[in-house]
Amino acid sequence: MAERALFISPQAEIPAEVRALDLRELHGDVLIEVKYSSCNYKDAMVIQPGNRIARRDPLIGGVDLAGVIVDPGSSGRPVGASVIVHGYDLGVAHHGGFATAARVDSSWLVDLPVGMSLRQSMEIGTAGFTAFASLKALEHAGITPDDGELLVTGATGGVGSAAVVLGAAAGYQVVASSGKATASTYLGDLGAARIIGRDEISDLPQRVLGSTRYAGAIDCVGGATLSQILRSLNYGGCVAASGLTGGSNLETTVYPFIVRGVTLAGIDVVQMPMTKRQQLWNDLATTDLTALCAMATMTVNLDQLIEALSALHRSEITGRILVEL
Ligand SMILES: NC(=O)c1ccc[n+]([C@@H]2O[C@H](COP(=O)([O-])OP(=O)(O)OC[C@H]3O[C@@H](n4cnc5c(N)ncnc54)[C@H](OP(=O)(O)O)[C@@H]3O)[C@@H](O)[C@H]2O)c1
Repeated sequence: MAERALFISPQAEIPAEVRALDLRELHGDVLIEVKYSSCNYKDAMVIQPGNRIARRDPLIGGVDLAGVIVDPGSSGRPVGASVIVHGYDLGVAHHGGFATAARVDSSWLVDLPVGMSLRQSMEIGTAGFTAFASLKALEHAGITPDDGELLVTGATGGVGSAAVVLGAAAGYQVVASSGKATASTYLGDLGAARIIGRDEISDLPQRVLGSTRYAGAIDCVGGATLSQILRSLNYGGCVAASGLTGGSNLETTVYPFIVRGVTLAGIDVVQMPMTKRQQLWNDLATTDLTALCAMATMTVNLDQLIEALSALHRSEITGRILVEL
């Protein structure tokens, strides 16, 4: 079968197009037949004309993938082994998962956990994995559902939707913050106990600290939203911060930290060490994946991908987009 891929050239007149893939264009000792990928915020950014996220030209997009090994290289895995790859340079500086085939470095391979299918792994994808890592960071900071409500921002997006599902499953009263007025049924179905607007996170703007409202927060929005969260956490609270859809600048005072003992936990799954990465995927596979996978509300093929990524960039998507190769 002819191999195909979504090639991206941000500086070109046509910044993204699907065309035939010559396997000699790929680099890395392990060859994978890609079965699934997914659409993430970074994928939507990388097809924007003139963006500086793509670090090779042309670039095959796709920051995550799941598939089976065709050539194991030096990985020590057998031909046919099921693997997940996400992060590192994938889909940014190294050809990614929006292709029927991919080559990667053997050190990037996550073994598909027992109890999880390839399809499920990409229904969860980078976004779901990030939400899981965020929840674990709160657990690590000693936050429990008995401490109070869990705030999730960007709640209709990939990370946010997964955080609502995982938070509710862990027993939290989840407060979902969203800019989409029509999302309340969707968020309620995911398990949110309460839904608030993007602007309703904090109060007492004239004071350095707001009222204490939340025991913990999973934030993928950043910017002013993260500043407000820091002012609103209970004593000893923790926010797991992973994203910047609302902005990359963070204005804060030291008061949340020195008066309320608040923790700001940074979440990075791109360079996360492999031992922790594999362990978290294994842990995820022991949970009930039904609701988490159901958040993949849309499935697209390579030819439908550019339109899907554009809709994601316009913040029109609720839930996750699975890519079937
Ligand atoms: N640190 C890591 O390792 C890591 C891993 C994965 C993702 N991320 C980051 O996490 C963020 C979310 O990724 P994703 O894949 O979940 O993206 P996504 O599916 O596009 O969701 C982002 C959500 O953010 C909200 N949003 C969008 N524009 C906003 C704005 N201007 N102000 C406030 N909220 C806004 C929207 O939710 P509502 O409409 O519901 O408000 C949107 O659905 C991105 O910044 C991504 O780069 C980081």
